[in-house]
Amino acid sequence: MMRFDAIIIGAGAAGLMAAIETGRSGRSVCLIDHTARPGEKIRISGGGRCNFTNRELDHLTARDRFLSQNPRFALSALSRYSPQDFITRLDRAGIAWHEKHKGQLFCDGKASQIVDMLTRDLREAGGTLSLDTTVETITREGTDFHVTTSQGLMTAPKLVIATGGKSIPKMGATGIGYKIAVQFGLSLTETRPALVPLTFAEQELVKTKPLAGTAIPVTIQHNKTRFDEDLLFTHRGLSGPAILQISSYWRDGDPLTLDLLPGQNIARLLADQRQEKGRMALHNALARWLPEKIAALAVAESGMQGRLADQNNAKLEHLATYVHQWQIKPVGSEGYRTAEVTLGGVSTKDLDAKTMEAKSQPGLFFVGEVVDVTGWLGGYNFQWAWASGFAAGKA
Ligand code: FDA
Repeated sequence: MMRFDAIIIGAGAAGLMAAIETGRSGRSVCLIDHTARPGEKIRISGGGRCNFTNRELDHLTARDRFLSQNPRFALSALSRYSPQDFITRLDRAGIAWHEKHKGQLFCDGKASQIVDMLTRDLREAGGTLSLDTTVETITREGTDFHVTTSQGLMTAPKLVIATGGKSIPKMGATGIGYKIAVQFGLSLTETRPALVPLTFAEQELVKTKPLAGTAIPVTIQHNKTRFDEDLLFTHRGLSGPAILQISSYWRDGDPLTLDLLPGQNIARLLADQRQEKGRMALHNALARWLPEKIAALAVAESGMQGRLADQNNAKLEHLATYVHQWQIKPVGSEGYRTAEVTLGGVSTKDLDAKTMEAKSQPGLFFVGEVVDVTGWLGGYNFQWAWASGFAAGKA
């Protein structure tokens, strides 16, 4: 039997962070993962450059940028481990980074630099990394947790669950964290794929498939939530940052509204062109502002035909509704196969916001994506993983 002060299951972003802080406080810690390498999602994230945090995150923005049944839950951990704390860590390790739009920070080089930094920190903190290790059973006896693994029995008075969500099973996601929560009497909120491409029914796909690969900046809206981001047509439906963001709010069957030319008034722009370009086919006239295929689709959807000169102002206003308020109805999402995160999870009601410890199970902690805290696209999810892992490690 191997005895530690703490066992952490899941060597992703949150588990690595929790293990490093535990080790730094002078305690023995074992970080377990069933895969052969730690931090696989860090490695592939952000197109291989890891969007590791977001500079726009502060106490005010945090309320909007995380979805949870209790959006205030994340504030405590996020305020004690800020984006600047992680930036300072990268700077010390000599890892160069840059800012893309909307506060998103990426490595200049490979994301694996972050994994290397964290595994080095873990080693220096005296932590044990047990890879290729399958968890078979977990039991509790008094204050001790017994974890039966493929490497033998491990025991500790503290157990941290950092096993992530269900997204991308091919990369090691198992959903085991939810089962452990239920085993110890914690409640779960409904889980579903988020930050995920959406799909169209066959009759829509016939129209949109020819556009696959085309991207345009849009405003996308679902009820009162809106994002100004790029939209990408795919062979199965829609993707791109606009769709990934809104997917976290969207429910099966809900309509979404797209503005394909945000900040412009297409009816007025076309009316202004009527004298000079009146002989142009309507879709060609519209293609001055939109990619040709999208312009053709908008005109076809509006049911309009003919030349620009044939359209009176009322008709141009009609076309404008297909450009500025195009209603789309995805039928589903690509699911956990491609979702970046799992929305929902271990209920925050059952966790201490400062330490991530289960209120009814002293010594048992849940951190990272397994918890019902889901960030927007743009580095928010890693920041939550760093911050919640740090909080548990400190505790
Ligand atoms: P994470 O999933 O990282 O780690 C969980 C660990 O537990 C894994 O190592 C897994 O193998 C292990 N595990 C699971 N079941 C186990 C079991 N039964 N036994 C033992 N171990 C087990 N976020 C962001 O902020 N910026 C970005 O750029 C991106 N990009 C991105 C791209 C892609 C393709 C994906 C899929 C996701 C992102 N994300 C992201 C989201 C981000 O990756 C995610 O929020 C964090 O990795 C969550 O960190 P965790 O440590 O909680 O889980």
